[in-house]
Amino acid sequence: MPVETIRWKNGKVRYIDQTALPHKVKFIDCGNVKRLWRAIKTLEVRGAPAIGIAGALGVVLGIKDSKSVSGKKLSREVDKVAGYLATSRPTAVNLSWALTRMRALARENSSGSAARIKKLLFKEARKIIAEDKEACRRMARHGARLIKDGDAILTHCNAGGLATADYGTALGVLFEAKKQGKRIRVYADETRPLLQGARLTAWELMRAGIDTTLICDNMAASLMAKRRIDKIFVGADRIAANGDAANKIGTYNVAVLAKYHRIPFYVVAPLSTFDFNIVTGKDIPIEERDGDEVRSIGGKFIAPKRVKVYNPAFDVTPNGLITAIVTEKRVYRKPYSVIARRREAPTKQSIKTRLLHSPAARSQ
Ligand code: MRU
Repeated sequence: MPVETIRWKNGKVRYIDQTALPHKVKFIDCGNVKRLWRAIKTLEVRGAPAIGIAGALGVVLGIKDSKSVSGKKLSREVDKVAGYLATSRPTAVNLSWALTRMRALARENSSGSAARIKKLLFKEARKIIAEDKEACRRMARHGARLIKDGDAILTHCNAGGLATADYGTALGVLFEAKKQGKRIRVYADETRPLLQGARLTAWELMRAGIDTTLICDNMAASLMAKRRIDKIFVGADRIAANGDAANKIGTYNVAVLAKYHRIPFYVVAPLSTFDFNIVTGKDIPIEERDGDEVRSIGGKFIAPKRVKVYNPAFDVTPNGLITAIVTEKRVYRKPYSVIARRREAPTKQSIKTRLLHSPAARSQ
């Protein structure tokens, strides 16, 4: 049963608090943009597509009580709210992608009334949610073809329903394989420092009735050496035009191990996770987070409080280590640069969106 991660409810943004899982299933009704910014920053809402949705709903939240009558004025307010929300987390491109889409819509309609723009933005946010639900199900169907009955699969971090509107990218593939009657076993990396694998992936997989085994991150190599992993499926937060993929820190380790042990390594991500303005993974901005996330576990310090810490939240897996990328359109194999080239012919709307989405526009 899919988890509904985030949606609009009674004039507020309702989301499941992922920091409380797996012990408590708690929903938060968020009524202001500052609080939503904090929810994204602190990972109450997390996962690339889910924070894109949070951004879109956040724009609606930020302008819904605006007294502006003119479309131009409201459009400027949209820019301000979107610019602020974009600062919450830098790596997952889905956030800036969704915010850019909302800003572009407001600008295009700024000659009309503010009331009309408000309606259009609300509709657009709902469309982004609906598209994500559809994309996840399509990726699930494409990806499930890569899974055989009896496969043992390793996953890292959480690319499940919690990281999207409701179904998941990499985990969506596993849910679909199970639905098709394939018997699969899944190993979930715990994913230090914030344990998304242990807290969220294990919870989601078990809820779906999938045979789940939790491992510490440093146990994956030994499982692979014993030939106990057949395939690896992970999500992504931003994919460069050449197919280099940023995902949760530790994904790169898994990909290197997979190459050594000749195990297929699949990335599952919607096209909204691609950033065609970025040529290689070297240019993907990597978020560095507070050192206390490494010094402590669940609020309890496990290291000297003043020890220096290095805490990048993501790493980049070079395209050469990726066997295939599963998108809602199809499964792509190398060279991944064809994905950028085979996009539909640019429309007036997509050109505008791309311009707004360029690194220069993003930094405004
Ligand atoms: O820091 P997080 O928990 O937001 O990181 C999330 C990940 O790295 C996920 O694997 C990624 O967003 C895949 S999304 C379906």
